Amino acid sequence: MLHVVEHPLIAEELTKLRDPGCPSPEFRQRVRRISSLMVPSVTANLETEVVECATPLEITSGVRVSRGIILVPILRAGLGFLDGFLDLIPQASVAHIGVARNEVTLEAEPYYLKHPPTIGEHEIIVLDPMLATGGSAIHAVRTLHAAGARHLRFACLVASPQGVAALESAFPEIHIHTACLDRCLNDRGYILPGLGDAGDRLFGTC
Ligand code: URA
Repeated sequence: MLHVVEHPLIAEELTKLRDPGCPSPEFRQRVRRISSLMVPSVTANLETEVVECATPLEITSGVRVSRGIILVPILRAGLGFLDGFLDLIPQASVAHIGVARNEVTLEAEPYYLKHPPTIGEHEIIVLDPMLATGGSAIHAVRTLHAAGARHLRFACLVASPQGVAALESAFPEIHIHTACLDRCLNDRGYILPGLGDAGDRLFGTC
């Protein structure tokens, strides 16, 4: 299920982010702002339960989010998407997953995974700024399922129709949240119009 998070401030930030003249420090700040602006939509349907709470005057009822939250940035570009989520969900744990392309088979393969042992009891939000072919996202979700994750959603900055279709076809139940659905992929797997290589632009390696 695809959710495009539409908001004028996100749209303006994204416009500035696409500009090839946007330097890395500014790029990082803008990605952080967009990810924070996405948090209310990405988390809008979290399950909650009623709890008793005390005010200085009396006992009343309040709300608690039922499950703890684990944020899972896909290395490396997902790291740039993490801080904006942590700004609004500081109580979240952070798991890390590394997915790289095997240069022989050309398949994406997970090479690193570190998560809290109680992963099955948590709400998992997988983070990757670019959902391009969907290969990394599919391998990340498959690996997290194999590790016991059950309540999982995916958030990105820019998605391609091909990436959305691939992820939905592999995991029809998954909710995909993106700030923008772009037009297509080019023959090198880059999203068009896109914003180039998000990892390189975030970390100044271009
Ligand atoms: N990864 C990126 O960083 N950019 C794309 O356009 C596609 C994949």
